[in-house]
Amino acid sequence: MTDLRAKVERVVREVIADLAASGALRPGPAPDTAAPRTPLVAANWKMHKSAAETRAFVAKLRLAEGVETVLCPPAVLLPVLAAALPPGSPVRLGAQNVHFEAQGAFTGEHSCAMLLDAGATYVVVGHSERRALFGETDHDVARKAAAALRAGLRPIVCVGERLAERESGATFRVLRAQLTAALTGLGAPAPDPAALVVAYEPVWAIGTGRNATAAQAQEALAFLRDRLAELFGHAWTRGMRLLYGGSATAKNAPELAAQPDVDGFLVGGASLDPEAFSAILAAAAARRPEVTR
Ligand code: 13P
Repeated sequence: MTDLRAKVERVVREVIADLAASGALRPGPAPDTAAPRTPLVAANWKMHKSAAETRAFVAKLRLAEGVETVLCPPAVLLPVLAAALPPGSPVRLGAQNVHFEAQGAFTGEHSCAMLLDAGATYVVVGHSERRALFGETDHDVARKAAAALRAGLRPIVCVGERLAERESGATFRVLRAQLTAALTGLGAPAPDPAALVVAYEPVWAIGTGRNATAAQAQEALAFLRDRLAELFGHAWTRGMRLLYGGSATAKNAPELAAQPDVDGFLVGGASLDPEAFSAILAAAAARRPEVTR
């Protein structure tokens, strides 16, 4: 298995190097790097909430100035959420999964166009629960991310190591392999940096109450930003958002949000409670732009 992974990583690296050499991965227009990144906090409700609970959540949600708020309910609740938000609300909607094909015999799946129709702007791609419980591969993740961007949906690409991988010192190898594989299908020009979000979600921190420390999150996200810079250039990479996810709470969010490469959060459990989620939004809003790298 380790041999196979090493081989796959090598092949992926060679493909990326070839693409880079051919100019296929050349960056798009340089973003305004003087502009600070707008923090982004996304709620991943997973398989929780009824329509009534969705409306109750919206009634209690307190937005924070200067933070992009994204709510990712189960897909059937997207229209409910869209209708519950006040007209002109800055809250964006997201889906938790998407199929990479435009249409066809894929029972139970949704296409990018369907999610856009239902009001989504973002879509979570490659969540570790999709990978572990539903057999999603790096190749699937790459196809989903590419299909989303082509369709005008913004992918939130999730990567993260399992506990055994961290303990055996494989964290950065895993992150590099997952990130590189997920982005192989993007082609040229590079996407708008605001449209591609990467979330570091260590599997051992998801739903466990054991969050990564601020230092662990920063180290992993800095590593991911540096790898992205290798693919798309530093100017492009400075304009994109990297999120931390895994037992993020109102309590630990301020310290995590103070890290230079933590541009926001992908929140599971704590996003179900409007008070706790609003407090995380406030923590992201308190981030000082000058700390960003
Ligand atoms: P928790 O915040 O419940 O640990 O979940 C994190 C997550 O999986 C978000 O996508």
